[in-house]
Amino acid sequence: MKLLFLVLVATLLGAATLKGTGASRAEMPAEPALTEREQMRGRLLFMQCRACHAVTGDEGARIGPSLVGIFGQPAASVEGYDQYSDQLLSAKIVWDDATMDEWIRSPATMVPGNLMAYGGMASEADRQLLVRYLRKITAPATD
Ligand code: HEC
Repeated sequence: MKLLFLVLVATLLGAATLKGTGASRAEMPAEPALTEREQMRGRLLFMQCRACHAVTGDEGARIGPSLVGIFGQPAASVEGYDQYSDQLLSAKIVWDDATMDEWIRSPATMVPGNLMAYGGMASEADRQLLVRYLRKITAPATD
């Protein structure tokens, strides 16, 4: 019985680790899951983005492109979104934790002239949490 429990836990842990697998996972240590408090904070921070960005597959593009599956993708490659600026289209960025952090910190500094009307998030702790939260909510549904 005890053994069965251990096997179950090991399986669940394995699944949890695999779930967040993105393109840049190779160099990243496995992320611990968000605590409930982090989850709430993440949701609050994301309110600054959600007016312009969808994060589930059944919502279409808003003012900005859908962020579903954005991690691991090159910038300005969301299919069906045709409002990209030339600046973002020609920026050689692949979205991972570091580039996403830089973008959220100040989109206008990272890609001058881009069309995202967002001033930036100064707090490093908030940005790091938002990036972890984004990883979670933008993961494409697996079912
Ligand atoms: C006022 C609307 C608006 C807000 C608020 C906003 N965005 Fe954007 N976002 C855009 C637009 C428009 C673009 C496309 C910019 C371009 O092409 O120059 C964009 C682009 C992006 C991209 C690049 C997508 C791609 O396909 O490469 C990411 C990532 C992103 N936004 C994340 C965020 C996050 C995270 C927040 C919140 C902190 C946020 N955005 C807030 C409108 C917005």
